[in-house]
Amino acid sequence: MTDSQDPLIDEARSLLESAHDTASLANAKARFLGKEGALTARMKALASLSPQERAAAGKSLNLLKQAIEALVSQRQSELDQAELQARLAQEAIDVTLPGRGIGRGGLHPVTLTIERIEAIFRSIGFDVADGPEIEEDFFNFTALNTPLNHPARSMHDTFYVEGEDDAGHSLLLRTHTSPMQVRYARMHAPPIKVIAPGKTYRVDSDATHSPMFHQVEGMWIDEDVSFTDLKNVYTEFLRRFFERDDIDVRFRPSYFPFTEPSAEIDMRFADGPLAGRWLEVSGAGQVHPDVVRNIGLDPERYIGFAFGSGIERLAMLRYGVGDLRMFYENDLRFLEQFRD
Ligand code: FA5
Ligand code: MG
Repeated sequence: MTDSQDPLIDEARSLLESAHDTASLANAKARFLGKEGALTARMKALASLSPQERAAAGKSLNLLKQAIEALVSQRQSELDQAELQARLAQEAIDVTLPGRGIGRGGLHPVTLTIERIEAIFRSIGFDVADGPEIEEDFFNFTALNTPLNHPARSMHDTFYVEGEDDAGHSLLLRTHTSPMQVRYARMHAPPIKVIAPGKTYRVDSDATHSPMFHQVEGMWIDEDVSFTDLKNVYTEFLRRFFERDDIDVRFRPSYFPFTEPSAEIDMRFADGPLAGRWLEVSGAGQVHPDVVRNIGLDPERYIGFAFGSGIERLAMLRYGVGDLRMFYENDLRFLEQFRD
C-alpha cells in the first residue's frame, strides 16, 4: 500500500478542507499529528514491529506524515489568502469616486446688499459709520424728539435689556438706525454726510417684517441742504442700486417726530414682475430743529435731511424675493443663488 493510497490521506484532506479558520485548522491538524493523533499512534505502534518491518513501515509513515503536513500548510495558505481577500474587499477604496471637496461659501444676500449700498454712497462722498445694537433709550427715542410716553414709541415695540447704563438710561435693542444721527453728528463737525447700516429690532413678524432686520440710516447736514437734495440723492441712489432708469419715486407725506416735513419714500418699476406696484422702501425728511439742537448744532444755521431705509426690502426688490423671512431660514438652496 503506497502512502497516497492510505485512507488516512483522504480523511485528512476532507477534514482539513472543512476547516475554515486557523483555529479549526489547528484542531484538524492535531487529529493526525498531535500527541493523541492518528499518525502519532501509528508511530508508537512501530515499536512492536520486528526491525525489518519497522524500517519499511517507518519510511512509509514518514512519507505519510510529510503528505499530511503538506496538506496542512496548503490549507493554511488557502485560509490566509481568503482572509486577505476578505480584508481587501472590506477595506476597498474606490479611487474613481470624485472627492467630496470643500464647499465654497458665499456672502449672505443681505451682506451683499449692504456692500452695494456702501459702495454707492461712498462714491458720492458719504462716510460709513457703525453703531451699537444695544442702545440707550435716550439715543433711540428721547434725543429724536420722542420722549417717554410719546405715542410714536408704541410703533417701535422692542426688546428691553435688563439694567441701565452709567447715566441711568434704560437699554434696549435699537428699533431703527436713527440713533446714529445723533451719535455720529455729536462726534463730527458739519458738513455731516454719513450712512450707518446695521441691525435693528422690533416686535414684528410677517412676510415683509422680521423681528431682526437691517436698516441703513443716511444723513446730510450743512448750511443749505434742502429737501430737493434728498430727492436727488435718494433717486440717484435707487437708480444705481437697481441699475435701471425706469424707476418712479414718490415722496408720500408722513410723520416722524424727528423730521419736519416727513415722508415715506415709495418706488415702483415701469416693467418686470413687480411693475406698477408702489412699495415703501424708506422713511425720510428734513432733520427736525430740535434734533439739530440735540446734536449740538444751531438749527438757525444748520439744516439737512435724513432717511432710514429697510435693507431687506431693497434686497427683496432687487432679487425678486417674495418673503423677507427666507433671508433668515438658512436654507442653502435659497442662499446659494446669491453667489457672485
Ligand atoms: C423708521 O424706522 C425711521 N427711523 C426712518 C427715518 C429715518 C425717518 C430718518 C426719517 C428720517 P420706519 O419704521 O418706517 O421708519 O422704518 C423704515 C423702513 O424700515 C421701512 O420703510 C421698511 O423698509 C423697514 N422696516 C421697518 N420695519 C421692518 C421690519 N420689521 N422688517 C423689515 N423691514 C422693516
Ligand atoms: Mg414706514
